[in-house]
Amino acid sequence: MKFEAERQQSPESAAIRDLKLPRHFDFLTFRLFDFLTLTMKNIDSISHVTGRSLYVDDIPVRTGTLYGAVFASPVAHGIVKGLDVSKAEKMEGVAAVFTAADIPGENQIGGVIPDEVLFADGKVEFNGQPMALVVARDELTARKAVAAIRADIEALEPVTDAREACEKGMLLVPPSTFQTGDVGSAWDQCAHIFEGRSESGGQEHLYIEMQGSYAYLMENGHVKIRSSTQGPTHVQKAAANVLGVPMHQVEVDVTRLGGGFGGKEDQATAYACMAALAAAKLEKPVKIILHRMDDMRMTGKRHPYSADFTIGLSEDFKILAYKATFYQNGGAAADLSPAILDRSLFHSTNTYYIPNSKVTAYSCKTNLPPNTAFRGFGGPQGMFIIESAIAKAAHELNVPARIIQQKNFMKEGDYFQYGQVAKNVNIGKCFQLADKEYHMVAMAREVDHFNKYNQWKKKGMALMPVCFGISFTNKSMNQARALVHVYQDGSVGISTGAIEMGQGVNTKILQVAAHTLSINPERVKIETTNTTRVSNTSPTAASSGADLNGKATEMACKQLSSRLRRTAAILLNTKLTNVSLRNEWVYVNGVKSELSWTELVKKAHLDRVCLTEQGHYATPMVDFDKKISKGHPFAYHVYGLAIIVAEVDCLRGNYHFDKVLMVHDFGNSMSPDIDMGQVEGALAQGLGWMTMEEVAYDAEGKLLSNNLSTYKIPDIYSAPREVKCIPLPTKGPKAAILRSKAVGEPPLMYGIGGYFALQNAIKAFNPDYVPDFDAPMTMEKMLLRLYQ
Ligand code: MTE
Ligand code: HPA
Ligand code: MOS
Repeated sequence: MKFEAERQQSPESAAIRDLKLPRHFDFLTFRLFDFLTLTMKNIDSISHVTGRSLYVDDIPVRTGTLYGAVFASPVAHGIVKGLDVSKAEKMEGVAAVFTAADIPGENQIGGVIPDEVLFADGKVEFNGQPMALVVARDELTARKAVAAIRADIEALEPVTDAREACEKGMLLVPPSTFQTGDVGSAWDQCAHIFEGRSESGGQEHLYIEMQGSYAYLMENGHVKIRSSTQGPTHVQKAAANVLGVPMHQVEVDVTRLGGGFGGKEDQATAYACMAALAAAKLEKPVKIILHRMDDMRMTGKRHPYSADFTIGLSEDFKILAYKATFYQNGGAAADLSPAILDRSLFHSTNTYYIPNSKVTAYSCKTNLPPNTAFRGFGGPQGMFIIESAIAKAAHELNVPARIIQQKNFMKEGDYFQYGQVAKNVNIGKCFQLADKEYHMVAMAREVDHFNKYNQWKKKGMALMPVCFGISFTNKSMNQARALVHVYQDGSVGISTGAIEMGQGVNTKILQVAAHTLSINPERVKIETTNTTRVSNTSPTAASSGADLNGKATEMACKQLSSRLRRTAAILLNTKLTNVSLRNEWVYVNGVKSELSWTELVKKAHLDRVCLTEQGHYATPMVDFDKKISKGHPFAYHVYGLAIIVAEVDCLRGNYHFDKVLMVHDFGNSMSPDIDMGQVEGALAQGLGWMTMEEVAYDAEGKLLSNNLSTYKIPDIYSAPREVKCIPLPTKGPKAAILRSKAVGEPPLMYGIGGYFALQNAIKAFNPDYVPDFDAPMTMEKMLLRLYQ
C-alpha cells in the first residue's frame, strides 16, 4: 500500500517521474512499472561519496592483528643461492618471516596451469617475485624488516622481449591457430597485398584499491579471508592448496573492490594465500595491503603484443585474406595468458567478414611479472592488429580507412573465423545511425578544411567499429548461482557469485530481483560475496557478471514468486493462473486484491512455505572445440562504433581529442546511468592504453614506470572535449539479463580509434611519414613522427 501510494502521490516520486532521462536515451521504450529501478542510481553512490563504503583496508581490525609486507626479488632472473632473513626475524616487533619452506601444503597458486609458486624457491623469474613475507606488529616495522632481508642471487640473463623468447622456444603453452577458408590460395585473387608489423604496449590496471587481504582464524583452524579479489573461489582453492586443507576449511568473503579491471581476476590470490598462511601459522589475524609502488612492481599487466600481418584486398577493397602471427608477452608464469591468447584470436578479425584467414598466436615466457587479464582480455590487442592492417592498406591505397572498414562489416548469416554464425549483427545498423546522427562525410570534410587552413595544428579522424563476444571462452565457467531469502517482513537478501568492483553489478542484480518479484527496490539488499553462501563461482569477468549472476537471481526469484502466488491463490480462493504480483500487490485476473506483498509473505511463512530459493544458471548453447578451434563460444555479441577526432599541436607534439561520437548496442539497457558510466570509463581506459600509458621496463627487467609520476593515466584534462553516445535502439537478446547487454569491456576498444585519429593527423602534417603501428602514441613518439 505504502509503495503504491508513494509512487502516485508523494511529491518526491512525482519529481522522479518528471525527471528527464539523459537525452540519448529518449527513444528507448521502457516498461513503465520499472521506472523506479530504471532511474535508480548505483546503490553504492552515496556510500562512495561519503566515504562509508567498506574496502579491505577499512575492515575494523581484530585485537592482535599483525601486518604483512613482502620481500620480492630485486633481479629478474637468477638462481637463489641464499636468503638471509635472520636480521629481519630478530627485529623488535617482528612476529615471523615466512618463505617457501614454511608452506604446509603446496607452494603453488597457478590458476590455469600449475606453474606459479607462491614464494620463489631455488630460482627467481621476475623482478618483484615474492620471496618472503614478514609479519610484524605494525606495517612500518614489517617494511623495515623487509629492508633487512638479503638475497644472494646468481643473476642469469633475463629475456624481456616476446619475439626473443619465442625464438628461444620459451613458450608458456603450445601455439594456437584460428583459420578459415584457404589463405594459401587466396593471395592469387587479391589485387592488393600489404604487410606490416604492429605493436601494442602493456597497461597498468591502477585500480584505486591496491591488492590486499585480511585473514583470520575462526573455529578449529577454519580460515576466513577477506580479499580484494574478482575470483573468490580461485582464492579459496589456492589457499586450501597452500595450507594443505580441504576447501571447506577456507572461507572467502568479498564486500567490494576499489576497481579490478581484470587485475584481480587471478592476481589477488597470492596476497590472500600469504595472509592465510601467516594467520594459520601464527593463529593471529594478518593483514596485507600492498603499497602502490610494490603493487605496480609485483603484479602483471595487460599483455604487450607484437605481430606481423599480411592483408589482401580485391580491386573494390573487399578483404579477401588475412594472415597474422601474434607474439604475446606472457611474463614468467601462465596466469590467464592462454585464455587471453585465445580471446585475441577470437577477436582477430574484429567485426569484419574475412573469407580466408589464418592467425597463429604464441604465448611467450619472459622474465617479467606474469601478465594478466585486463578489460577486453586480449580482444583489444587482436583488434589493434587488424585495424593496423586496414590502416596500412588505406594508406597505401590512398583511401580513408573507413571505406575499407565499412565494405567489410559482417552481415547477418556470415560466420566468424571460429565457426559461429553471426546472428543479430548490428554493426551495419550502428554505422547507419552514426552516419545519420553525426554525418561522417561532413565531419571528414571539416577536418580537411581545418587542415588546409592551419599550418601548425592538424586534425585527424578515425572510425573504430567493435564486435565483442559475450561469454567466457572456457565453457565450464559460464555458470553462476544465487541464493535468495525473503524475510518474514517482506524484505529480501540476495547472495550471488558476483563481485562488485565499481561496475554496478550489485545494482543490476538488485534491479533484477525487484523487477522479478515486482517489489520496491528498497526492500532488497545485496549481501557480500561469500564462498560459504554461494560456492564454486566463476570470477566476475568477461563482462558477464550481471548476465550470469542476474539470470541465476532471476531464476530463484521466479521460483519464489510462483510459490508465493500459490499461497495467494489459496488465500484468495482462486486458481494459481489468475494470480499475479504487481508493484507489491496481489492481483486476481488483473484486478488488485486486498492482499499486499508483506501480508502475503507473512501468511506464507505461517503456512510453512519455504521463503528461500537458490538459482543456478548455465549459459545454454555455448560450446567450443579447442582441438579444431571451432564452435559457438559466445551467447551473443556486442556491437558499436566510435568516430574519433584528434587535434595535434605540431610544434610541440601535444595533442587532445576533440570528439568521440559513439553508437553503442546496449540491447535494452536496464541501467542507463550505469551503462553510460561504463562506456565513458572504458573509453578513457582504451584511449589511455593507446596514447599516454607507457609501461616501461629496462633491459634488466626492472619496472621503470613504477609510480604515478612516471606512469600517466588519463585524467579530466586529457578527456575528450566532447563525448557522446547514442544507444542503438534494439530489443536486446534473450541471453542477456532482461535483454540488457553486457557492457563492461566492449567500449574499451573504441579507444583504439584514438591511435588512428592521431596517425591521420600526423599524415596531414608530414607527407614523408610512413604509418607505423607502435602503440601507445605518447607525445614523445608523436613529436618524432611529425618530423621523421
Ligand atoms: N568498471 C569499474 N568501475 N571497475 C572495474 O574494475 N572492470 C571491468 C568492467 N568494468 C571494472 C569495470 C572488467 S575488466 C570487467 S570484465 C567487467 O567490468 C566485469 O563486470 P561485469 O561482468 O559485471 O560487467
Ligand atoms: N574472459 C575473461 N576472463 C576469463 C575468460 C574470458 O574469456 N576466460 C577465463 N577467464
Ligand atoms: Mo575483465 S578483463 O574479464 O576482468
